[in-house]
Amino acid sequence: MKVGFVGWRGMVGSVLLERMLAEGDFNGLQPVFFTTSNVGGDAPNVGVDCPALEDAYDIDALSALDAIISCQGGEYTKAVHPSLRAAGWDGYWIDAASSLRMSDQAAIVLDPINREVIDQSLNSGVKDFIGGNCTVSLMLMAVGGLFKEGLVEWGSAMTYQAASGSGAKNMRELISQMGYLRDSVAEPLANPASSILDIDRQITAALNGDGYPKDQFGYPLAGSLLPFIDTQLANGQSREEWKAQCETNKILATQQEIPLDGICVRVGAMRCHSQGLTLKLNRNVPMADIEAIIKEATPWSKWVDNDREASLAALTPAAVTGGLDVPVGRVRKMNMGPEYLSAFTVGDQLLWGAAEPLRRMLQLLRN
Ligand code: HSE
Repeated sequence: MKVGFVGWRGMVGSVLLERMLAEGDFNGLQPVFFTTSNVGGDAPNVGVDCPALEDAYDIDALSALDAIISCQGGEYTKAVHPSLRAAGWDGYWIDAASSLRMSDQAAIVLDPINREVIDQSLNSGVKDFIGGNCTVSLMLMAVGGLFKEGLVEWGSAMTYQAASGSGAKNMRELISQMGYLRDSVAEPLANPASSILDIDRQITAALNGDGYPKDQFGYPLAGSLLPFIDTQLANGQSREEWKAQCETNKILATQQEIPLDGICVRVGAMRCHSQGLTLKLNRNVPMADIEAIIKEATPWSKWVDNDREASLAALTPAAVTGGLDVPVGRVRKMNMGPEYLSAFTVGDQLLWGAAEPLRRMLQLLRN
């Protein structure tokens, strides 16, 4: 299979290549790497022979491929995908960007949760397979079992999203912000006799001062948070919040739309998105059944007992980062009634939230 890679040098693309190398996915593949800036340059070393880098806007070169995986971003997709299809190319387009996600011609891929929907799409001739929004994919990797059992009447996700969702430069800026704050109070911090209120005043001045590094985020994230992600929609939702309901229902191919809403917030974590969930179940399901459904949903959905020590040890970005497991904890019935379930989940935004569903879709096409 001849597969083109576009945007492989960026953060999601690099994670994709790392994962493909770790799983031996390049064995037996004919990869062709594309570039927007270095045509003729060397392809990365992935253990198999690759031609020199080709032009990512060369429709003829792209048309020679069986499949293309793009991590290049939405603008590239909008610029190239229509021309490729217009030129008659009927290969598989696998994309991390959101541009094509809600198109009728495209399926959203999260195979541990929606393998049947992917299979149906393949059978009906769908050729565009798009990774879901990271919070949506991670929420479904966590509690998708409850949705698939038809138990969820509606849900609310309050998110705590990492800097990586904004890009590599933003991750760097978050660390610079942390360092800037620390440096601004280095002296009083080293003196145990200094007043904490004086330190706090200096921190507040640093947060709001001109020197604070905020070119990327525009506002302080370290020492603060940002209660709006992506653009603003006319109904008051952010675009990130809007995606929860429409993508979840598309991924699951629900017969009846399940309402989902919440507030998406950027916090000072590096690459793990966390979510506080409220799920209204359509009946009083025993806790033992809920635990079994969550545990059995996918090999990566991990149950964490609703216990202080277990939650603090296993249900944090620090514990989860860099791994494929998506732990779910703080699961309990809420005061509102036995059909109201709380849960907290954490997942690596670059893995199940971005690269992993794409590499698995390619493997699925090969089998
Ligand atoms: N939109 C997500 C975020 C990342 O800003 O965290 C991409 O899915």
